[in-house]
Amino acid sequence: MGIDDKSISWRDALSALSLLIAGYSTYRYYRSLSESTIPPVKKGVEELIGNTPLVLIKSLSNATGCRVYAKMELCNPAGSAKDRVAYNVIQTAEKTGQLVRGEPGWVFEGTSGSTGISVAMLCNALGYKAHISLPDDTSSEKLALLESLGAVVNKVKPASIVDPDQYVNAAKKSAEAMVSKGIRGVFADQFENEANWRIHYEATGPEIYRQTGGELDLFIAGCGTGGTITGVSKYLKENMKTQPHVVLADPQGSGFYNRINYGVMYDNAEKEGTRRRHQVDTIVEGIGLNRITRNFKLGETYIDESIRVTDEQAIKMAKFLTVNDGLFVGSSTAINAVAAVKMARRTSTGSKIVIIACDAGSRHLSKFWKEAKNVDCNITLDQVIGE
Ligand SMILES: Cc1ncc(COP(=O)(O)O)c(C=O)c1O
Repeated sequence: MGIDDKSISWRDALSALSLLIAGYSTYRYYRSLSESTIPPVKKGVEELIGNTPLVLIKSLSNATGCRVYAKMELCNPAGSAKDRVAYNVIQTAEKTGQLVRGEPGWVFEGTSGSTGISVAMLCNALGYKAHISLPDDTSSEKLALLESLGAVVNKVKPASIVDPDQYVNAAKKSAEAMVSKGIRGVFADQFENEANWRIHYEATGPEIYRQTGGELDLFIAGCGTGGTITGVSKYLKENMKTQPHVVLADPQGSGFYNRINYGVMYDNAEKEGTRRRHQVDTIVEGIGLNRITRNFKLGETYIDESIRVTDEQAIKMAKFLTVNDGLFVGSSTAINAVAAVKMARRTSTGSKIVIIACDAGSRHLSKFWKEAKNVDCNITLDQVIGE
């Protein structure tokens, strides 16, 4: 072996060593990363509720010059923010002895939306039974989900809240009938039950505070029961250094827009002779109402203004977010996103905006997405807003 051969083998040894060092550092880096981010093992699905991510909506941020984020409530185990509410309702009932863990008990709810699905999932996880009253025109995927989860489903004719057979009243009646027989049960009563807004005050609000570093310019949510907007905005207004501007994004046909901006709970769709079958005449599900509920009333003072969004804008926005960001969202999230763009266009560049992403598009395939899927994939943001 000559001198040259030896020097080559030294070079080989050196490069092998540096490769080894580089490989080890990469291994250490990824190990530390996974150790710091991997979630701990959970003892049941109920422990998966909350701590949802905040994600930047790049398309809307780039187009408006603001930073628009979605609070991904659709990441909860039963797919919506209502998991938090259902769990807090059950835990509150356990504290008052209406339900006892390990013993048979029923949770009754009147809901056309996500709450029934959350109640049904949690009842299965915690050893209770779910009884859900809903209007018989509830979308087929929600009905199928409830039936798959094994809930007892009571379908009633769509009716006004003053009708004793309206679905919320029907749920209350079923609960009272069961309890009068000495069987344990609770009426969840999401519109009036304060366990609703309280969990958003205790959990969702603080999460947004931490995720935004305590600095936020605008918070935008729709209003169904009012639990989310009341709980989150109360927390943010009480705790943030600079109070964020709170905006209620309202679908067509709902009375909140006029209530917040002009003090009257009224929508033109209620004019005599123009009213159609549904109280809130929109394709959007989960938000919009024409009555004042306790969970809304308690938070009304924290809401600074309301933005009206049409069904057409929401449908187009849903498609825009899907094709540009990979965000496949439901109708109420699309409403919030439209309101975010309208507000961003009025606000200073760089403002930080958080919207609630309440549930995913898969809950809305048979109705809202039946329309949204036909929107042109190349639609622009100006065409979405159309004003
Ligand atoms: C899909 C969806 N988005 C938004 C909301 C509104 O949330 P809140 O009832 O807290 O006002 C609901 C309520 O049921 C919902 O189902």
